[in-house]
Amino acid sequence: MMKRSAFLIVAVTLAGAVALTAPASRQADQGGAPIYVKQVPHGYRDWRLVSVAREEGTLDDIRAVLGNDEAIKAYREGKPFPDGAIIARLAWSYDSSEENNRAFGRPQSFVAGTPKNGAQFMVKDSRKFASTGGWGYAQFDDGKPADDTVMKACFPCHQAVKDRDYVFTRYAH
Ligand code: HEC
Repeated sequence: MMKRSAFLIVAVTLAGAVALTAPASRQADQGGAPIYVKQVPHGYRDWRLVSVAREEGTLDDIRAVLGNDEAIKAYREGKPFPDGAIIARLAWSYDSSEENNRAFGRPQSFVAGTPKNGAQFMVKDSRKFASTGGWGYAQFDDGKPADDTVMKACFPCHQAVKDRDYVFTRYAH
């Protein structure tokens, strides 16, 4: 009796484990559910500048787009982004600068203040992130990965520029 119930528990546990792991591996193979990047790409603050932008409305920030070596090389050579390319989007509050205004003698200066709207990344791995156009999306707020509900919006909006490999920002020469 004891032996039999122990066997049953093992059998049920095994079946459960198979049921849980099978969909995950199938998704990766068939490009099913999106996979989000949960680790901050290393050394991004030292990457080179692609361009800058200013967003009004609810975002109300000033932002910089940076690329790692692979991304910058592809941008400069006008080639497709290879696996390993990573693009970062950093943003800060858009602050009027009293100090600069005094130097200019009139109110005209705006500068980057404190970090705002998270640090966002697109990581190229055409196999791993096949279900989201070959890019893995990431957002970190104070270094912590954003909720998956936030992450769900990334790819659908970036699809607007599918013909440019889902990347909006053009290289500022
Ligand atoms: C409503 C549309 C929209 C959504 C949603 C969105 N983005 Fe973007 N993203 C843009 C636009 C437009 C730009 C370029 C201008 C800018 O940065 O303001 C951009 C720029 C970027 C860039 C710089 C490379 C590029 O494509 O220009 C990265 C990296 C990025 N977004 C990541 C993300 C991540 C990660 C998410 C989800 C958390 C996300 N985006 C959600 C519209 C969107």
